[in-house]
Amino acid sequence: MTSPTTSAPTDLGIDVRPVAGNIGAEIHGVDLREELDDAAVAEIRAALHRWKVVFFRDQHIDHAQQIAFGRRFGKLTPAHPHEDAPPEGFPEILPIDSRRYNRLFGQAEVKDLKKKFKVTYDNGWHTDVTALVNPPAGSILRAEIVPPYGGDTQWTNLVAAYEGLPEPLQRLADGLRAKHSFGQPIFEGSEYGKKVKANPLVAIHPVVRVHPETGERALFVSPSFTSRDNEIIDFGPRQSRAILDLFYEQISRPEYTVRFRWSPGDIAFWDNRATAHLGPSDVDITEFDRVLYRVTLEGDVPVGVDGRPSELVAGQPFLAG
Ligand code: SIN
Repeated sequence: MTSPTTSAPTDLGIDVRPVAGNIGAEIHGVDLREELDDAAVAEIRAALHRWKVVFFRDQHIDHAQQIAFGRRFGKLTPAHPHEDAPPEGFPEILPIDSRRYNRLFGQAEVKDLKKKFKVTYDNGWHTDVTALVNPPAGSILRAEIVPPYGGDTQWTNLVAAYEGLPEPLQRLADGLRAKHSFGQPIFEGSEYGKKVKANPLVAIHPVVRVHPETGERALFVSPSFTSRDNEIIDFGPRQSRAILDLFYEQISRPEYTVRFRWSPGDIAFWDNRATAHLGPSDVDITEFDRVLYRVTLEGDVPVGVDGRPSELVAGQPFLAG
């Protein structure tokens, strides 16, 4: 594992300030309202690869500027494979809007469902849409309305989590593959749930994924998508559960994580090939509005330590529009 470092601002004036030992850095000295030149893009990309999630404070960009920023790092997918309500004229933008989730799932039921299934609206630790055969390479989330307290997001470094496993467990993980599927119990009964059911997404991914740009190995488990029994290929339900629980515990150890307190105008950009994240579960307690907007970068098909790519079981690859 590389050791945490701090750095002086570069010649471009970009200042990368780490915020936790294994993951997360704030980037200062860039104005995302302006088009970034190639050198700035390269520095941000390097910081992303090193720190896995980077934060930009106080940027206040709009949908079009968020899309333009995202496109400097790759092609953007539509908002979500099951999503039908991006803001008018911006099909790439996924609204993460507490008011909208209450409308989608039924305000009266949503709290009970969350209690019953012990999930937040975005279902606990996850890497974005790993039920796809090509999960997004990266995600960029922009805050517009945030609660006065609570509503934080956490990320975990899946490379550090892999490297922190004892060597025999690394070897075990290296040889495993797991099924990821989309459709949590909370969706059932809603119109959205029907849409998810009509268009199932299922993929088999290596449990250890080799990052295509850094070559690092990441413990690529995504609890929200690998949460049912019998998910590890060739394992029985109890074996599968025990192994997954062990890996879930590993990826959620505090030393691999960073917690981000949002202010309006803040942006988080994470490497979806090397991280999982956790949306807030305290938004329902306080009932403050929380509105953020996400874009996702088209992803590649993961490849395991043995060179085998992931397999599509149901659905289609998710490509830029
Ligand atoms: C997400 O899962 O992309 C959203 C996380 C959040 O709402 O904090």
